[in-house]
Amino acid sequence: MKFKKENRLITAALPYVNNVPHLGNIVGSHLPADIFARYCRLVGHNCVFVGGTDEHGTATEVAAIQKNTTPQRLCDFYYKIHREIYNWFNFSYDNFSRTSRGIHHKFTQSFFIKVYKNGFLKEDILVLPFCKNCNRQLSDRYIEGKCPYCHYENARGDQCEKCSKLLDPANLKNPKCVVCNSTDIEFKEEKHLFLDLTKLSTKLERWIKSNKHWRPQVRNMAFAWLKEGLKPRCITRNLKWGIKVPIKGYEDKVFYVWAEAAIGYISATKEWHNKKWKEFWLKKRSKIYHFIGKDNIPFHTILFPAELIAHKGYNLPYNVVGLQYLNFEGGKFSKSKERGVFCENLPNTNLSSDYWRFYLSFTIPETGDTDFSWDEFKERINKELVDNFGNFINRVLKFTWNNFNKKIPLSKGDHFINTANKQIDKVIVAFEKVELRKAMQEILRLSDLGNKYFDKTKPWKTKDKTAVFNCANLCKVLGLLINPFLPATSEKILKMLNCSESNWDNIKRFNLKNHKINEPEILFHKIEDCQIEELKQKTSKVTKYSIEQTETIKNTQTKPKPMIKYEEFQKLEIKVGKIKSAKEHPNADKLLILEVDTGDKLRQIVAGLKGHYKPEELKGKEVIVLTNLEPRDLRGFKSEGMLLAAIDGNKVVALTVDKDVKAGSEIK
Ligand code: MF3
Ligand code: ZN
Repeated sequence: MKFKKENRLITAALPYVNNVPHLGNIVGSHLPADIFARYCRLVGHNCVFVGGTDEHGTATEVAAIQKNTTPQRLCDFYYKIHREIYNWFNFSYDNFSRTSRGIHHKFTQSFFIKVYKNGFLKEDILVLPFCKNCNRQLSDRYIEGKCPYCHYENARGDQCEKCSKLLDPANLKNPKCVVCNSTDIEFKEEKHLFLDLTKLSTKLERWIKSNKHWRPQVRNMAFAWLKEGLKPRCITRNLKWGIKVPIKGYEDKVFYVWAEAAIGYISATKEWHNKKWKEFWLKKRSKIYHFIGKDNIPFHTILFPAELIAHKGYNLPYNVVGLQYLNFEGGKFSKSKERGVFCENLPNTNLSSDYWRFYLSFTIPETGDTDFSWDEFKERINKELVDNFGNFINRVLKFTWNNFNKKIPLSKGDHFINTANKQIDKVIVAFEKVELRKAMQEILRLSDLGNKYFDKTKPWKTKDKTAVFNCANLCKVLGLLINPFLPATSEKILKMLNCSESNWDNIKRFNLKNHKINEPEILFHKIEDCQIEELKQKTSKVTKYSIEQTETIKNTQTKPKPMIKYEEFQKLEIKVGKIKSAKEHPNADKLLILEVDTGDKLRQIVAGLKGHYKPEELKGKEVIVLTNLEPRDLRGFKSEGMLLAAIDGNKVVALTVDKDVKAGSEIK
């Protein structure tokens, strides 16, 4: 098949680093972006798929304070969790970067210097709330108060959740600091830099109108914003954790996260390849696709394109694929109520990611909000994945293996090839329109056609070579077509077929004839009710990551800590303990669970020693324990104290005593 080759850059919204994703985040950007990127590669487009974590801003600063660590360390910790989850899902990012990386900082700075020189940044006064108790500026969501319009009590500084009106913190009644609850708030006037959207609005409007291929909900939202009228938008903030503003008079400020995060798409592409990035961002006629949730639509249709126009030279997005929300069993996902499926525990279940990718593909909220339901999860997998798709591949290959001497017979095929080809065209049309659910449905229709054909031709009676040839070649077609959705399954099917095609160049050709296959194996198993129960249990839990875990992150540059008084040191109770037993934590890769005799009692201590010591090695060891640390829950196990260890890069060594002493001996 010949396709017109294009340059296509695919991006998924950069997730906030300190939000561990739930399924809504997966189907709202990463999964559809990955499916589309895989499709584009298969048909031979020059394609790159980038993303990364969105790390700066007040949210991270505050979370770091609450966890008693630094923003950098907190981000390092969470970045790893994001990566692990996306790798488990098999998302094929060519680069999954971070906005805290040097390349993004440098790139953003030179980007805005150009925008400034082009005359699109202007100075203006911003009135910002300042919490005198925390001694910090309270941007956006860190101030709450009564909404001046609907009188809702807990309206956020940027927007009222109840009436959805955009707010200015200065208009809130009885404002208070979200971090410390103080009402001692002062409003300070300060000079800031604004992106002059008024100057850009004509160009923006013309461009938005020209994008007739965008989904209606995306176009409508963009138009609604235009209608409200575009005002200059502040792009600087008074924070430490961010990208320094390289403009005179603003050295103590950083760029507002929303002004800088989307530029991460460009710096991530540049980080991927220092020269080729230009093919996507600068070369005319290359296409950029952004996959994002609906709350991000204004930023990707207005603010980011406005920045690109102001900079000049960069391509604007070709398509902004705005996705709606995923609900959970008819309501909202809720971490605190443990309502939902939370991704950090998915790898600990015994279902491989293709089962998830399969069901989730039906729930991609392309046109309206969708719903995750465990009943539907089971039914779709059992009826459509196992009984329809899996069954077809399985029965055909098994039949060929057993009755045709492990070979696909020689035949020319017949009109069935045309039927299949028409169906392939439908799949491709759907993909080109980024209608991924439709593409999946057309693929399943094709395997259904295959099943019906197999039933009708009854090769087990007739031994009809053509029927077997058709069906076995259809297995190849299906194996290739399903690849964007179920990459691991696709690989298995092609391997069983002993077929080396890895793109769709010959997808329409029934070219496996007189062709030896490999022994078929069953692709999927049905899901039983008891398994659903187990899955529910495991995936509804939200992991509360503790300070200790964030602290076990390798800390490359330890900053000197401030001096403390002797009295503060005296508050610590440190004792020698004797390890009585040690075992592995059942659901953490770094933790061991120890029983330690500290003289006063036998304590359970959860320590980050796994991989550094074997449990047997630890038994009988005398170690040093901080015993008056408040007990904490570490992934479901209580830890009554902290075992002290020396950390040297990746090496972790438990502290011990030089000569034998009694358990419970105090350290002073
Ligand atoms: N972090 C934002 C969110 O999760 C998305 C940022 S997308 C970007 O809603 F393009 F601005 F990076
Ligand atoms: Zn405060």
